[in-house]
Amino acid sequence: MKVLLIGSGGREHALAWKLAQSPLMTEFYAAPGNPGIAEHARLVSLKVEDHEAVAAFCAQKAIDFVVVGPEAPLVAGLADRLRADGLKVFGPSAAAAQLEGSKGFTKDICARYNIPTGAYQRFNNAPKAKAYIRAQGAPIVVKADGLAAGKGVTVAMTVEEALAAVDDCFEGAFGAAGAEVVIEAYLDGEEASFFCLCDGRNALPLATAQDHKRVGEGDTGVNTGGMGAYSPAPVMTAEMIERTMKEIIEPTICGMAESGYPFSGVFFAGLMITAKGPELIEYNVRFGDPECQVLMMRLKSDLLPLLLAAAEGTLDKVTAEWSDDPALTVVMASKGYPGSYEKNTPILSLPEAGDGAKVFHAGTSLRDGELVATGGRVLNVTATGRTVGEAQSRAYALLDKVEWENGFCRRDIGWRAIERERA
Ligand code: AMP
Ligand code: GLY
Repeated sequence: MKVLLIGSGGREHALAWKLAQSPLMTEFYAAPGNPGIAEHARLVSLKVEDHEAVAAFCAQKAIDFVVVGPEAPLVAGLADRLRADGLKVFGPSAAAAQLEGSKGFTKDICARYNIPTGAYQRFNNAPKAKAYIRAQGAPIVVKADGLAAGKGVTVAMTVEEALAAVDDCFEGAFGAAGAEVVIEAYLDGEEASFFCLCDGRNALPLATAQDHKRVGEGDTGVNTGGMGAYSPAPVMTAEMIERTMKEIIEPTICGMAESGYPFSGVFFAGLMITAKGPELIEYNVRFGDPECQVLMMRLKSDLLPLLLAAAEGTLDKVTAEWSDDPALTVVMASKGYPGSYEKNTPILSLPEAGDGAKVFHAGTSLRDGELVATGGRVLNVTATGRTVGEAQSRAYALLDKVEWENGFCRRDIGWRAIERERA
């Protein structure tokens, strides 16, 4: 099978590493890819936003299957364009990708299909939004409606903070994404990520993970794209997984199909496990980054037939096997991230990773044959262990061998699970 993978982050390196192990793979391309992905696939310098160019490349190489990693091309309709040419694609249509592309859309689906989530209202002007906030009081959550690279959400502990966030949105801090604002009740509990493949009708639950969104140790400081993750998330007990499937995923599948937007791809449900049980914070329509890295380390089955089954409508015919051993990944980011940071700083050496350990490339490039850091999140140092504690020790031991002066990381990835293991 000839496969094209779209994307260039740590998530795509993990997908590439796993897909390349498939005996079904005959030719493997990635666009635009990164130096880590280049170990597994031939890189193609396509502009992913240019859907015609991607379609032309697929025709030229007789590609059979396209796996789309990030959300932006899905929301922009790349999967629709390629399907129009008869290609098989892993990833939802633009209409179904609204689940991630519009928070208001998702909230309306939740309301219509009785999916547990924080109470909310949508607003297109500041005075009404502010009046609602004053009436509700704090804590309260203010969200720009559209895609804002994970930065459009303010969890406001005071009314003043919430009012300021409304001004930010309507004054253009998030561009077009902030033209509408969703104001949502604050949910109290522990967060978890749940991943489930869907082919429009059938679901195949994958695994759970926990991300570390804040930049600072002890979950302090500003939100980032994620500073580290581990899988599985102990808070997602068998009972919570069953409830998530019944109360959240299954009604979403029905709701999307009934609304005329059947969903195929991966549901990434961001959950808050509250005193009442699982509640939906948000949907993403692609794998999490860095959650994907830990999922791929634990997946024993061949990934390619699973993604293909999601694209072909045959998820009821496949199963996924997982290692019981937890996996943990630590993100190394450029100093200054998620604010501004220096680019093209040299990464002098990366350690040899052995069995159950792997350094995934996220924001790296080659310049004159030398590896440099070009992104905010740059490397994902990943390891497995018999416990989260052991996976953590192995990951940090590996990370300490990385020679990259401009990098930093959190030293406490996995702390919640490790506290539980010690209790
Ligand atoms: P989102 O981009 O919607 O995932 O939100 C980013 C982060 O904000 C989430 O991972 C949560 O930590 C937090 N958050 C979002 N919505 C809520 C909510 N209703 N209650 C509490 N925290 C929230
Ligand atoms: N790590 C969170 C995300 O991928 O959105």
